[in-house]
Amino acid sequence: MGPIAQPLLSWFQANKRLLPFRQEPSAYHIWVSEIMLQQTRVAAAIPYYERFVAALPDPAALAACEPDALRKLWQGLGYYNRVSNMQKAARTVCERYGGSLPADYEALRALPGIGDYTAGAIASIAFGLPVPAVDGNVLRVFARLYNDDSDVTRPAAKRAFTRRVVEQMPADAPGPYNEALMELGALVCVPGAPHCEQCPLADLCRGRAAGRQAELPVKPAPRAKEQVPVTVALVYSPAGLLLQRRPARGLLAGLWQPAAWEGSLDREELAARLAQIGVTVEWGQALPPARHVFTHKVWRLGGWRGRAPAVPLPEGWVWAAPHQLEQVYAVPNAYAAYLGR
Ligand code: ADE
Repeated sequence: MGPIAQPLLSWFQANKRLLPFRQEPSAYHIWVSEIMLQQTRVAAAIPYYERFVAALPDPAALAACEPDALRKLWQGLGYYNRVSNMQKAARTVCERYGGSLPADYEALRALPGIGDYTAGAIASIAFGLPVPAVDGNVLRVFARLYNDDSDVTRPAAKRAFTRRVVEQMPADAPGPYNEALMELGALVCVPGAPHCEQCPLADLCRGRAAGRQAELPVKPAPRAKEQVPVTVALVYSPAGLLLQRRPARGLLAGLWQPAAWEGSLDREELAARLAQIGVTVEWGQALPPARHVFTHKVWRLGGWRGRAPAVPLPEGWVWAAPHQLEQVYAVPNAYAAYLGR
């Protein structure tokens, strides 16, 4: 244990947020929350978390959930392969571990979708095991504490930071220590200009002593993302909005979306694509330009509104009535601009 544990733990005790997954921190609850929090801020994740654990209270329920219903529960959180990996992991948990997550770092780490960080968070927070849980928050805190300007995205740097996290870990409180580091990163040692005046570790912080806290951590400039034009046909019939199921593999696998194709199509080309599924469209207004940023690409969306008769549709296409759009079909956030969400 190093000098940071004591002041850090006292600060955490006095300042930690009351979060739903801190009320009853079972391994399952910690797992669900940590997967959600990898992609979403705490405030935005809370309603999703509550809905998810109410619908699927344990690994057995998650393992048995119908995949479309699972995607619907996750709708809006993005990175949908995370929830499908969670389901695969839940099935393994039921087959191998009697339906409870194993209290073992290596066994957790071996489950689909559980990496070093998530295994460490579950093992330490739920089971009290002395293992680190190093996420972006923790890297930022340690880069500043040690005034270390190595590139935190490099695996060797991450290993070196992880060794320091372990050196400072108190043997009797690994879970609170790990969570306190994340909380400090989320509330005080924030990206950009941190709130050093509120920090329990300010006197121990070499980055602050050097006046370099705002420059740390060092990361390489993000790479430019591929820009992909997508042309959308927002077609309504008396039976509802025309939706198409995305392919079972790849980006947003299995989700539903308005009729859309990659590329900049004009209205004639778009009408011809719709004619292939038997839909004769009458165009209305142009859709305003919108964009959606994924990890590796950016969609640039545009297109038109249209009306059509409620003809029967081929496999993989539906007319979605408003209540079905709300309750049944998982539609990615990329289309939120056009769906009034
Ligand atoms: N971010 C990710 N996991 C967290 C946790 N358990 N507490 C606070 N912030 C977090």
